[in-house]
Amino acid sequence: MADGPVLVVDFGAQYAQLIARRVREAQVYSEVVPHTAGAGEILARKPAAIILSGGPSSVYAEGAPSVDPALVESGVPVLGICYGFQVLAGALGGAVEHTGAREYGRTEVKVLGEGGVLHRELPGRHPVWMSHGDSVTKAPEGATVTATSEGAPVAGFEHPERRFAGVQYHPEVAHSPHGQEVLRRFLHDIAGIRPQWTTASIVADQVARIRDQVGEGRAICGLSGGVDSAVAAALVQQAIGDRLTCVFVDHGLLRAGERTQVERDFVAATGVNLVTVDARERFLTALAGVTDPEEKRKIIGREFIRVFEQAERDLKAKGDYRFLVQGTLYPDVVESGGGAGTANIKSHHNVGGLPEDLRFELVEPLRLLFKDEVRRVGLELGLPETIVHRQPFPGPGLGIRIIGEVTADRLATLRAADAIAREELTAAGLDRDIWQCPVVLLADVRSVGVQGDGRTYGHPVVLRPVSSEDAMTADWTRLPYDVLERISTRITNEVADVNRVALDVTSKPPGTIEWE
Ligand code: XMP
Repeated sequence: MADGPVLVVDFGAQYAQLIARRVREAQVYSEVVPHTAGAGEILARKPAAIILSGGPSSVYAEGAPSVDPALVESGVPVLGICYGFQVLAGALGGAVEHTGAREYGRTEVKVLGEGGVLHRELPGRHPVWMSHGDSVTKAPEGATVTATSEGAPVAGFEHPERRFAGVQYHPEVAHSPHGQEVLRRFLHDIAGIRPQWTTASIVADQVARIRDQVGEGRAICGLSGGVDSAVAAALVQQAIGDRLTCVFVDHGLLRAGERTQVERDFVAATGVNLVTVDARERFLTALAGVTDPEEKRKIIGREFIRVFEQAERDLKAKGDYRFLVQGTLYPDVVESGGGAGTANIKSHHNVGGLPEDLRFELVEPLRLLFKDEVRRVGLELGLPETIVHRQPFPGPGLGIRIIGEVTADRLATLRAADAIAREELTAAGLDRDIWQCPVVLLADVRSVGVQGDGRTYGHPVVLRPVSSEDAMTADWTRLPYDVLERISTRITNEVADVNRVALDVTSKPPGTIEWE
């Protein structure tokens, strides 16, 4: 059997990455390839199986992507999903028609006969997620039709001997409750792939690759306090021990406790060599008088690079540091179109967007991993939950959550309010329900209040709790009133200068998650 990855051919829908994630949840390694890759290129990777994904097109549309027949006739097991199901049917001599019977959203499929391999012993009728205009009306020669729905006479077919199968619905989405089982059966029972992609195997594999790449060399890793850099560093530490040095820049825009988390908890968990650069004064000076959000971002990014480069020069003066560790994730690689071997430096939205002339060789141990895998690897390596499940926090930090000029006093105020909001959300068990909850200080706004026997003239803070899958779109989280009440009471009681707490009830779009 071929021991390459399961390759998901991306026909342009947003589902291809999700399919690869689900395949990996079935403990089989999977990658996404564009549909423009030729059959030769795909087969050269010796895929253990090929999955044709959904796509936005109708197979009848002009220029609709199709598949090279050489691919489906190569003997490599193939699964077609949605659009890929129709493409597969077409390529193997079945028929696809514009029947006019569209199905979008939740639909019921009926299992036919014994259900074959993919649908056997599933409920006779069960819900699935559909999204199609065309329908397969005739399965390929020799294949058994195993499922049907009102709008899709052929909603599933398979030919276990020739090792191809397909479903009209989307097994990868949560709205298809038996979908994961169907994928698992294709991978294990039709394609005969053994489930070997486990967290332990990922760690062992990455450690071996890092050792291979770095040899006896030395590496530097910038820590941000976030999940990706922490897990990347922990993996490299596992591989090369004290030939790794981590650099943590305290730019003074961090939240309460974040520096300790890195200096104490991360170091305790990994034993890593850490250099902390205290650059708080430098950032404050550079930001003095600046109120424009883009200007702030630019200054913070520029200063960060300067400080980091100085730290690198200091290290290089002491030893031959040739490698730089980056926490690039698989979705960054796919989205920037990089195949295996291309070095894409993660720069989007990242304070650590490093210049190109760095004269380092990149080590990217998370390049093949999705975020959920990165978190599991982190736990496997013994990192604290607080780091592994940390919510996203922007590189420019509290600097873009103070509306107005950034000063030391304002940072202290915002840090105190933010700490209270985080404490109360954690105490209420809501951390996993929200994507993130920025607290924003409207430093240039004042409002009148009354506290004790006196009037106050303080600043409002805004709570911005959001729910999201990927931060591209978001909805405001409906937090329980009693939690909001506790946060508001504590902030106004405990944080001098803040006499009002407001709740942001704007979705994204139109509002971004951050205020600046
Ligand atoms: P927006 O505000 O654009 O944020 O809806 C989307 C996600 O990106 C984070 N964010 C940033 N991250 N540098 C970063 O590293 C930035 O300049 C930046 N701006 C926004 C934000 O916290 C959210 O998760």
